[in-house]
Amino acid sequence: MPYVIEVENLEHSFGKKPVLRGVSFKIRRGESYVVIGGSGSGKSVLMKCILRLIKPRAGTVKINGQDVSSLSQKAMYSTLLKCGVLYQGGALFDSLNVIDNVSFGLVYGCGMSKKTAYKTAMKNLEAVDLGPEIARVFPAELSGGMKKRVALARAIATNPDIIFFDEPTTGLDPITTGVIDNLIVRCTKEMGISALSITHDVASMKRISDTVGLIHDGKMIWEGSNRDLTTTDDPYVRQFIDGSPIGPFIRS
Ligand SMILES: Nc1ncnc2c1ncn2[C@@H]1O[C@H](COP(=O)(O)OP(=O)(O)O)[C@@H](O)[C@H]1O
Ligand SMILES: [Mg+2]
Repeated sequence: MPYVIEVENLEHSFGKKPVLRGVSFKIRRGESYVVIGGSGSGKSVLMKCILRLIKPRAGTVKINGQDVSSLSQKAMYSTLLKCGVLYQGGALFDSLNVIDNVSFGLVYGCGMSKKTAYKTAMKNLEAVDLGPEIARVFPAELSGGMKKRVALARAIATNPDIIFFDEPTTGLDPITTGVIDNLIVRCTKEMGISALSITHDVASMKRISDTVGLIHDGKMIWEGSNRDLTTTDDPYVRQFIDGSPIGPFIRS
């Protein structure tokens, strides 16, 4: 199975408002796929539809070749155990300290003992440049950048096949952004993990992507390789990369 994710004609709307209007794309094993698009273009909704946190109105999603809509709850659960997710905003458990957040999936998903899970979690924290001194700290006491890094450590803790990153570097300083980008590249290039990332950050996109898809008006209107980013004359991609106020993106 060359593809880990296959999305075909995905449609979703909230009430009468269409958000996804037939999105199709595929992610190969080991590929780092980055979805870009304006605010409110449906990137997070797309990710949630793939993970079945939102049930799309139409279209199909396959993970590792299996149509997720046909899976039993148990089968979906084991599929999700192979997916690591970094939600936009982190979504850490406020009532759990850092080490319990990072080891949560290991203990409750994989059935690991707390002692073993803590050891793994410490390694994952180290991978995102966080030391043991923050293990017992609660999310409310962390800076935005630290929360992101803890959320990232949690996303990779269970050794997933596929990682989903929703705006992993938004709101971070350039150095922390570089650390996170390097980690994403390491996950895909050294560990062979496939990744679907959503980002606004052009520098990050260039660093971490093998392939980029641009979502606009409910559709994937452009797809190209990392190299294509610099050579394309697609006006949407150009405007996005150049951050120009003038172009086909209409701002209201
Ligand atoms: N649970 C929801 N209920 C109603 N509307 C939603 C919901 N989630 C997202 N939307 C709307 O769908 C659109 C796409 O949202 P989202 O995918 O979060 O955008 P982004 O591309 O910035 O991640 C937005 O207009 C948003 O307001
Ligand atoms: Mg979003």
